[in-house]
Amino acid sequence: MRETISPARRIRGTITPPGDKSISHRGAIFNAIALGSAVLENFLMSADCMATLRCLRGMGVEWRLRENGVLEIEGRGMDGLREPTGVLNCRNSGTSIRLFAGLLAPRPFLSVLSGDASLRSRPMSRVIEPLREMGAAIYGREKGTKAPIVISGGGLSGIDYKMPVASAQVKSALLLAGMPADGETRIEEPYPTRDHTERMLKAMGANVTFGDGAVVCISRQESELSPLSLRVPGDTSSIAPWLVLGTVHPDAEIRIAGVGVNPTRTGLIDALTEMGADIRLEEERTWGAEPVADIVVRSSRLHGARIGGALIPRLIDEIPVLALAACFAEGETEISDAAELRLKESDRVLTTVRGLRRLGGRVEERENGMLITGAGKLKGAKVSSSGDHRLAVMLGVAGLLANGETTVSNSSVVGVSYPRFWHDLRELAEA
Ligand code: S3P
Repeated sequence: MRETISPARRIRGTITPPGDKSISHRGAIFNAIALGSAVLENFLMSADCMATLRCLRGMGVEWRLRENGVLEIEGRGMDGLREPTGVLNCRNSGTSIRLFAGLLAPRPFLSVLSGDASLRSRPMSRVIEPLREMGAAIYGREKGTKAPIVISGGGLSGIDYKMPVASAQVKSALLLAGMPADGETRIEEPYPTRDHTERMLKAMGANVTFGDGAVVCISRQESELSPLSLRVPGDTSSIAPWLVLGTVHPDAEIRIAGVGVNPTRTGLIDALTEMGADIRLEEERTWGAEPVADIVVRSSRLHGARIGGALIPRLIDEIPVLALAACFAEGETEISDAAELRLKESDRVLTTVRGLRRLGGRVEERENGMLITGAGKLKGAKVSSSGDHRLAVMLGVAGLLANGETTVSNSSVVGVSYPRFWHDLRELAEA
């Protein structure tokens, strides 16, 4: 599939964003091992989250999706998962495969996790190595570095682990593995990453505690977890293209209703605000364990900035659209400390630089990021998503901002995280 986008004269409208991908995955996985039933409203019915649900069914978990994203799920209790009879296919989803590695490593049966070509090329040693330290019999292709992953589960002990990379997926896997393990598991991150797992597990009755800095501990769970019903906040990452469009377009005003504003996720709002954006949070409230707000974004003039360090994990999935914003900012924007970006659904340093350059952006590739010189304009061209959903949405928004026509090929990949993306883009542009 391909989408052709023409520049928009005016941008107006209200967006109701899709449910948060990270919270949807976690809501399904954690409730599967609680005892009793839970209802998740605004569950993200995207390809990634459906992969998680199908894998859970493979472990004996029953669930039902009603219309409008209402998920009913029957928890099987801490010891209730069944040995899957086939390979668990996580498709394109890094969150599914890494969280499932941690979920299955302590369970006394054999499981095999795999995914599509992109997922099978992504690093898995970051989760396999610490799980081995906990005593897991866990194997991967290419000397334990790649999927498929084979787990002969059971008999884990807690560890004290200093994570070499800031990764919420690895942290979450180790917390899941630590719950049925003997003793305590202590995890230290180089920088704080998204904390949805800690918030949700704590609300379900898990023994989660926090140390100084980015330290989280979990100790053996003797009682069952309570089910957690919740309304999933709008996805902070999926609204990123609208924040950039609303800021950069000269005649724009966009309202976004019910967005997750967990501080471990709002790095893009902070970065754009520092660059001069007019982004306002209204009606701040909480849904379950998560802060939520309505957001209003209006046209503004941006200037360049230096983006790096502890800010990176707070906006890691938003860097492609941040780079697009930087093409319209006055002066230079330097994005550094972002080597992790090369290990996502595509090498996002490469694919972002290549995509923006094809559109006339002045962007230089760096080992750990990129340097963007704001030229204030882009020109339409034929571009490809490279099979990466975050690239597809960035290029779609670039199409509304560029002069002339832009065609994005392999455009249906947005279904991984934001199935209605192209519909919402047209609604905003035609308003
Ligand atoms: C996610 C964590 C991040 C992020 C991914 C979702 C999660 O990955 O890029 O899209 O749900 O925990 P890492 O943990 O690899 O940084």
